[in-house]
Amino acid sequence: MDSRRYSFVVVANRLPVDRTDDGWTRSPGGLVSALEPIARGAHGAWVGWIGVPGDDVEPFEHDGVRLLPVQLSAEDVDRYYEGQSNSTIWPLFHHGVETPVHRRAWRVAYEEVNRRFADAAARVAAEGATVWVHDYQLLLVPAMLREARPDLRIGFFLHIPFPPVELFMQLPRRVDLLRGLLGADLVGFQQSLAAHNFLQLSARLLGLQPEGEQVRYDGRTVTARAFPISIDVGEIEKLAADHTVRAESRRLRRELGGDRTLLLGVDRLDYTKGIEQRIEAYGELLDDGTISNREAVLVQVATPSRMRVAQYQQLRERVEREVGRINGEFGDVGKAPVHYLFQSRTREELVALYLAADLMLVTPLRDGMNLVAKEYVAARSDERGALVLSEFTGAAEELPDAFQVNPYDTDDLERGIAAALRADPADLTARMRRMRAHIADHDVNRWAQEFLDALGR
Ligand code: ADP
Ligand code: F6P
Repeated sequence: MDSRRYSFVVVANRLPVDRTDDGWTRSPGGLVSALEPIARGAHGAWVGWIGVPGDDVEPFEHDGVRLLPVQLSAEDVDRYYEGQSNSTIWPLFHHGVETPVHRRAWRVAYEEVNRRFADAAARVAAEGATVWVHDYQLLLVPAMLREARPDLRIGFFLHIPFPPVELFMQLPRRVDLLRGLLGADLVGFQQSLAAHNFLQLSARLLGLQPEGEQVRYDGRTVTARAFPISIDVGEIEKLAADHTVRAESRRLRRELGGDRTLLLGVDRLDYTKGIEQRIEAYGELLDDGTISNREAVLVQVATPSRMRVAQYQQLRERVEREVGRINGEFGDVGKAPVHYLFQSRTREELVALYLAADLMLVTPLRDGMNLVAKEYVAARSDERGALVLSEFTGAAEELPDAFQVNPYDTDDLERGIAAALRADPADLTARMRRMRAHIADHDVNRWAQEFLDALGR
């Protein structure tokens, strides 16, 4: 372990890089996209897991950030990560879009692993340091850390939704989870509704009466507030201006059939993302003749995610079956209606796709924020393109100029896609310009600054 001490420490389930057979690669997901530039700028340390079970890895430097690996055994991964984090808490916090599974052994492992993360952070934080804990995998860490190190300033940010009280109440050992979060000085959420749910829960379970956005707990004040997360706008704009990326974008369009309208989906393969609903709507639009395979094509890039969890395996099967059906029914030789890539792509490739896409389809059933929607807007310096966006994402609150849809209602999804396809180009430019102005003014640096300023106070 590191003998150095740090005045700013990030604690998250994953490090920004994963260990793979090809060396270190960027970890998947929005948390890393958002936090990486912040940690780099702050010259702090990052406590997290290397993404695979196994040996102890020594602390190392990556892109100006000191990475402090926490070791997880195969059994920890099975119980803490795939079990309690991603089969219990993840589906429940996403309002039960899949049925949460409850197991005692998973809860035990969750507590043990949370303790390991808290101990690691307690060891490396300097006297009076700021420690910023992230996401649903580590709900118990703030209280554990406070117990070990009362001198620290502790912030927690939840990247996913926080459920309504009635849903949270289903969780076994729900009070422990709540007390875990109350160990922080500041608990940040994506949306004000989530902060409200948290305060209501504190009243219901512990009788804490909120005063505005604060409660008194254990002789301290805990603040709960929304801080909608964002992206590194500068990074995306730089990539979008890069001539290699632009050339790649033109090549993609040529390959996909010249003047065919390009619709795009980019997600982790996760049942919260509404990928199935989107593909089904596309199939129906082909079927009723609103879209023809000659004139349009859908590209769906789906990063493999949590593939040992049964619900994710089943989702993969359903998506691949539906893509096969649509391509078989509506395709032609050399002209498939849906190009489905079960792959992770580089940032450059993603931005080339964003630049090539006439319509970006972001249709989650529930999503804390959704950074893909923001990345698409940031990439479109040409002020072209349209965003079809689920109203159940945090991003929808900030982007009223997107074509907003209810992904549970296939008719509404189809209406939104058709409206975006038929929209007047001048209207699309006006919408894109307003969305871009909002994103430019609310980038990830502002998000972090506002959170850390509030925590500092
Ligand atoms: P989540 O955090 O649930 O994965 P977000 O939309 O907030 O969802 O963030 C996803 C992040 O992962 C974005 O920065 C996006 O660019 C990246 N990403 C999504 N799909 C892929 C992919 N197929 N290949 C590479 N990166 C991806
Ligand atoms: O908040 C979304 C999130 O769960 C992050 O915590 C995580 O980094 C990302 O999605 C990817 O998930 P995983 O780490 O399970 O691959």
